Amino acid sequence: MQIHHTISGLRAALRGAGRVAFVPTMGNLHEGHVALMRQARGHGNVVAASIFVNRLQFRPGEDFEKYPRTFEADCAKLSEAGVDHLFAPDEGEMYPEVQTYAVEPPPDQAGVLDGEFRPGHFRGVATVVMKLFAVVQPQAALFGKKDFQQLMIIRNMVRQFALPIEIVPGETVRAPDGLALSSRNGYLTAAQRAEAPRLYRAISRIVSGIRAGNRDFAALEAEALADLRAHDWSPDYIAVRNSLDLQLPAAHESGLVVLGAARLESTRLIDNLEV
Ligand code: PAJ
Repeated sequence: MQIHHTISGLRAALRGAGRVAFVPTMGNLHEGHVALMRQARGHGNVVAASIFVNRLQFRPGEDFEKYPRTFEADCAKLSEAGVDHLFAPDEGEMYPEVQTYAVEPPPDQAGVLDGEFRPGHFRGVATVVMKLFAVVQPQAALFGKKDFQQLMIIRNMVRQFALPIEIVPGETVRAPDGLALSSRNGYLTAAQRAEAPRLYRAISRIVSGIRAGNRDFAALEAEALADLRAHDWSPDYIAVRNSLDLQLPAAHESGLVVLGAARLESTRLIDNLEV
């Protein structure tokens, strides 16, 4: 695997390389990331990944500073997964001047759910992804369904700007007890780790309820919120939404997704399941 710290170095290496499949990440890689890398093989003859902890998508007081940075271990995993090129810029390379131009996703997509609790987050994500796309110029890019709202926003951005990039979704990779793998799981104490799958179970129960014919989404959401609160969680939201645009579904609608975000003390976990 070739490692590039500069835009010019990466561009020189990719010139004439053929079809590039790209997986952007913030590092501290786990099996969820690695699965995307392996899947990328099927979408290009060259696989490129990036590691960049993007300050723009963190709010003041969030975990930008303490976000785990494990570059050596990440490189070993990427090599092992067959990644050809890693782009790992520092902040000076990605943002040599203050990034005053930005991609502003519409509020009905970026101001709801996670965007309501992390204002500006998806603006930061869309801006860095647009910039990474300009740098890497991939023909395909892979994003995990774990971050369902992010995947939807990137998809819509690519469509509206007519970027010639195929956006490929990857299934959420979970631990055996159901917990979705996440770099933030590393913040959990042993006791919290044992408690953490409750979010997945709460979302699963809603999915089962809907499949069994219960269309009272508000009641299903309320029950899940109560269960989490009863076990010392602070939920931000549990929501049944249309899976295409994340808007509120009508009672008879199909194509649903159940999304949730909740804090166990200071660690914020998100998860979702399609119905
Ligand atoms: P990061 O959280 O590192 O995630 C990188 C990619 O891995 C994202 O597409 C995410 O959805 C996917 N991913 C994370 N956990 C997963 C899991 N358990 N199963 C499957 N896929 C999983 O998402 C970001 O970084 C950033 O916002 C980024 C897009 C890189 C922009 O900075």
